[in-house]
Amino acid sequence: MILSQLTLHNFRNYPGLRLEAAPGFMVFSGENGAGKTNILEAVSLLAPGRGLRRAPLRDMAYQNGRGDFAVAAQLGDVQIGTGTDPEAPERRKTRINEAAAPTNDLAEWLSILWLTPAMDRLFMEGPAGRRNFLDRLVMALEPAHARNCARYEAARRERNRLLADGHLADSSWLEGLDTQLAQYGSLVAEARHRMASALNQLLEQTDGNVFARPALQLADDDLRTEFQLQQMLQQNRTADRAAGRTLHGPHRADLNVFHAEKQQPAEKCSTGEQKALLFSIILAHADLIAERRECRPILLLDEVAAHLDPQRRAALFDKLAERGGQVWLTGTEPALFTDIPDSALHFQVSDGTAKKR
Ligand SMILES: Nc1ncnc2c1ncn2[C@@H]1O[C@H](COP(=O)(O)OP(=O)(O)OP(=O)(O)O)[C@@H](O)[C@H]1O
Ligand SMILES: [Mg+2]
Repeated sequence: MILSQLTLHNFRNYPGLRLEAAPGFMVFSGENGAGKTNILEAVSLLAPGRGLRRAPLRDMAYQNGRGDFAVAAQLGDVQIGTGTDPEAPERRKTRINEAAAPTNDLAEWLSILWLTPAMDRLFMEGPAGRRNFLDRLVMALEPAHARNCARYEAARRERNRLLADGHLADSSWLEGLDTQLAQYGSLVAEARHRMASALNQLLEQTDGNVFARPALQLADDDLRTEFQLQQMLQQNRTADRAAGRTLHGPHRADLNVFHAEKQQPAEKCSTGEQKALLFSIILAHADLIAERRECRPILLLDEVAAHLDPQRRAALFDKLAERGGQVWLTGTEPALFTDIPDSALHFQVSDGTAKKR
């Protein structure tokens, strides 16, 4: 999966930008506020979801524009585009080869994974971020996961509305929603378990890792099958009604990560170790995608070089280079990328422009 061209229209601080991209490393350097992360965010919108900042659509539209934006890219012979219309700036629209398509369909064409400075706190903050992280890992491998998550969430919202409204008298409605929750919840939970165990298997095989070796464990009360979930929902009806919402289920799952050598939970590890654990997960995941989907995912690494000592930085570039695929990297200093292969395309970003160096 290689993007050969990226165009932005009224996206963040870019009224218009057109970039010729190439396989391998795409490096962006420039001062703080130049627009480096914005470029990576634009690419991240070519996958289902809200992008690497999880920002509202209206925030992404260029401030001095009409409220709409567009991000388009060429992927082999396929043209993909996503954005909003001025008439409906709150609604995302996606086009694949000129035809309107559900945004979740993007996952069929592209796997995109990212690491950002905000993710440095992934292990320290609440479970929502880790759940979302895991779901993105799954979506990159199983495109249907995006749809299953969306359907589960829609059924859960509806069930919560019913619980809060006290409309439980119509229990056949609730019954139907429980069935949907159990059905999609089970697909979501099973896919998450598949991903955690596939990654664990790969991580165990990887030796001599310069980065830490993580072990993943999905904490979801082991509620996985449709039957288990349906039973749980029925048993919890009284409590759910009292709370006015669905208290248990895949929407409460957490991803526990351990530093395998140290036998320590990730949140107890140092900042650098936590970053290393994330690297290892992302790299193993990229290998898994490459093996199963027969092409490497696109990696977006925002400011990762700055956090690593020169030796680890060189090791990361080596590991990425030996794997191939397209890797988009940012950093404030061009010097951070001196050890990157010569074939890298290097752009100088400043004030809404990106010029090839
Ligand atoms: N909707 C928008 N319209 C116009 N400008 C915006 C919009 N959203 C963000 N910006 C601006 O885009 C600029 C670049 O942001 P970005 O995060 O890409 O910078 P960066 O190069 O990654 O900087 P840093 O090195 O600090 O991470 C910021 O100055 C920000 O104010
Ligand atoms: Mg940035």
